[in-house]
Amino acid sequence: MQIDIFTLVPSAFEWMCERRPLAAVLGGELELRVFNYRETTPLSARQVDDEPYGGGAGMVLRIDVAAAAFDAVYGGIPERRVIALTPQGRQLNQTLVEELASEESLTLVSSRFEGFDERIVEHMCTDAISIGPYILSGGEIPAMALLDSVVRRLPGALGSEESGLIESFSEELDGGLEYPQYTRPAEFRGWKVPEVLLSGNHARIESWRREQSRLRSAK
Ligand SMILES: C[S@@+](CC[C@H](N)C(=O)[O-])C[C@H]1O[C@@H](n2cnc3c(N)ncnc32)[C@H](O)[C@@H]1O
Repeated sequence: MQIDIFTLVPSAFEWMCERRPLAAVLGGELELRVFNYRETTPLSARQVDDEPYGGGAGMVLRIDVAAAAFDAVYGGIPERRVIALTPQGRQLNQTLVEELASEESLTLVSSRFEGFDERIVEHMCTDAISIGPYILSGGEIPAMALLDSVVRRLPGALGSEESGLIESFSEELDGGLEYPQYTRPAEFRGWKVPEVLLSGNHARIESWRREQSRLRSAK
């Protein structure tokens, strides 16, 4: 899979590249490129934003700046899914993550300040995605959330200490929440691990876990 990110804060993505799941697949299942709008802006003094037409507070990411960034990388608007990270988009969920993970390539476009000139979303992007009904200061955290959730679906992304098959929202749990997990010690300050998990009876454990998952998901 090939993923490109357009951002004003490329350094935000550095730590992710050093840790799983990205580190495990970079250079193999995943090719990741991060581009800074300021490197290709046609405006002087690395300007990327401007005041909103009609007045009001804040600055808006300019369309000529976003277009110049795409021209430099793709020679125009690419034939692939281009996702604007915006609080006004379709809300990200596991179904959408699975859908995006099956793409061969993705482009993530983020903004800061007051957001995008609407023509960027309308004419340069195929999708608008939100990570939830709240406002963040920039698209980097939303892009990181989308990136992590998609990349962990790639082969080899997860270590043996993590299962990508049975977890909250997975088909294995009918889209529900995962059952509670415990580890050693079996008792701590009088707080005990459920007896069934220490029984060694795999059928009972499996049925207890399914029931717990159902109960949690029904809340
Ligand atoms: C402060 S926000 C702009 C909000 C915009 N003025 C509005 O009211 O809809 C700046 C940028 O952060 C990103 N952003 C903020 N919250 C987000 C969310 N919940 N999901 C996705 N992106 C978000 C977007 O890239 C957005 O353009």
